[in-house]
Amino acid sequence: MVKLIIDSQSVEAEETWTVLEAARYYGIDIPTLCYYEGLSPTSSCRLCVVEVIRGGRSRLTASCSMPVQEGIEVRTNSERVRKARKVIIELLLASCPNSRTLQCLASKYGVTKIRFKPEDRGCILCGLCVRMCEEQMQAGAIGFVYRGVDREVAMPFHTRHEACRECGACQFICPVCEMPCQGPMQPGQLCNACLDAVQLEAFPSKD
Ligand code: SF4
Ligand code: SF4
Ligand code: FES
Repeated sequence: MVKLIIDSQSVEAEETWTVLEAARYYGIDIPTLCYYEGLSPTSSCRLCVVEVIRGGRSRLTASCSMPVQEGIEVRTNSERVRKARKVIIELLLASCPNSRTLQCLASKYGVTKIRFKPEDRGCILCGLCVRMCEEQMQAGAIGFVYRGVDREVAMPFHTRHEACRECGACQFICPVCEMPCQGPMQPGQLCNACLDAVQLEAFPSKD
């Protein structure tokens, strides 16, 4: 077992655990988007940011991929973490300003405006769909294509891949492929109406 401190509590964790798994085991809430139990972590969204103090030095890191280490102190809700988390939510919202999931995160963590220019890409490049298709569905029908601002998820040559079984798992797992927000938003503002939203169906009807 590894001994560490999380939010001022001395805890013990299995050597194979990540900081996120240890925190969740002890009931400490850390928000995540690109992490999904059973899929390999890629630490692409950075939402699970925590402050880690070791040897008197502090740094921010993604908790979903950081292994627990003997003697470290982890702060999941320090001023530094809260500020970083808000900026990350703002950046994600700029990519998908109408996402209910992101709007709910904004409400929960006190983000009330987006300072970055919104460009509705419909994707935060979290890679969950790619990993779900490859690791759980064993299909490998989709992947990332292009680089930089053109980066997106697609099937090879943008044509239907024969390996795709149309299982819908990629859509199910996507944190932003939901019905667009219906709230009365002004450009650059967040309506926060999603606080009253009902839970979405896993496979919403297209009609
Ligand atoms: S619907 Fe197709 S692309 Fe999506 S997870 Fe299933 S097999 Fe993969
Ligand atoms: S389509 Fe959805 S699940 Fe796939 S990378 Fe984009 S945001 Fe993530
Ligand atoms: S949940 Fe850890 S980086 Fe996305």
